[in-house]
Amino acid sequence: MQQAVEKLAGKKCLVTGGAGFIGSHLVDLLIEEGAQVRVLDNLATGKKENLAQHFGKAEFEFLEGSILEPRDIQRALQGIELIFHLVCRGVRHSIKYPEENHLVNAHGTLKLLQAVRATESVRYFTHVSSSEVYGTSRQAAMDEEHPTFPHTVYGAGKLAGEAYARAFYLTYRMPVAVIRPFNVFGPRSHFEGDAGEMIPKSLLRALTGHPVLVFGEGSQERDFTYVTDTARAIVEITASMLFTGETVNIGSGRAVTIREIAEKIISLTPGTNAGIEYTEARPGDVQRLLCDTGLLKKKLGFTPQVSFEQGLARVIGWFRENENKLGEWYAADTGKNWQ
Ligand SMILES: NC(=O)c1ccc[n+]([C@@H]2O[C@H](COP(=O)([O-])OP(=O)(O)OC[C@H]3O[C@@H](n4cnc5c(N)ncnc54)[C@H](O)[C@@H]3O)[C@@H](O)[C@H]2O)c1
Repeated sequence: MQQAVEKLAGKKCLVTGGAGFIGSHLVDLLIEEGAQVRVLDNLATGKKENLAQHFGKAEFEFLEGSILEPRDIQRALQGIELIFHLVCRGVRHSIKYPEENHLVNAHGTLKLLQAVRATESVRYFTHVSSSEVYGTSRQAAMDEEHPTFPHTVYGAGKLAGEAYARAFYLTYRMPVAVIRPFNVFGPRSHFEGDAGEMIPKSLLRALTGHPVLVFGEGSQERDFTYVTDTARAIVEITASMLFTGETVNIGSGRAVTIREIAEKIISLTPGTNAGIEYTEARPGDVQRLLCDTGLLKKKLGFTPQVSFEQGLARVIGWFRENENKLGEWYAADTGKNWQ
């Protein structure tokens, strides 16, 4: 990390989607490393409270605006050296609103890339894509050469976005790195509406005495990384500039089934009377995602520091710190959250 510290101190960084789950942890880390951070976020799913710790600091600036609005992009790019592009609308949102999802994830990325190309100050563009571009695993662990066969409009839009980013490297020599995180979990992850993710949603349900919902049989496998590890990997990939023009996975290399997670959550929240309720499968759900972490390990020596169990304990701790809000938060849970 020493290398990253030296390279990021004083750097002017733009985090698009910085009020979101991963983006806000990335902002925390960048500020810790001495960077100047500007966030562009329209608060579609992001929350100002995720960044409450930074409002008022000279090294932090928040711009409420959209990557679809040229004027907002222009304001956001002024003087910026490094871009971390995390804006997105999520996978379940894409089931109900495919065109709007595409507009943000694919078209929005293209608009941003075009504006960046016309901006002299920018030195690097880090594009955060997703393992959802792969579709279901055709082999045990998926390396970066695994075929891309997305199941959802979200996965398709993310694939288009990363393809545009690579095209700007190949056509215009824009220094770009494309990152594909596998599943991420941690404090501030979404439990609400169609943004709601399995772990926070299930923990919130269990802690408020409601059954944990499993969509389908629960045999789906996922590879989870704790959010501070994901943020650290994104920072190190950018600071090292070792992945320019390349695509790199971030994951743990360990598969866990949805049923195992649900059972673990029940056992970690004793006395709440919550059980597991199996219900219909989510359309387009991927059966298996498991990360081959070899490239990141080989080029950066990167391995996650927080185990799945430690991470779960920290998310439970975060919910317990917010005990008085759990009722209100549970009211924002929409059950089958793609409908
Ligand atoms: N959470 C995961 O498990 C995961 C896994 C793989 C990849 N990713 C990727 O990581 C990135 C961050 O994901 P996240 O989980 O933090 O999601 P998130 O929804 O918390 O963050 C996305 C942010 O983008 C903002 N946004 C949406 N539309 C916008 C627009 N038009 N203009 C400006 N801001 C807009 C939202 O308000 C939100 O703050 C995304 O690119 C996502 O595809 C996430």
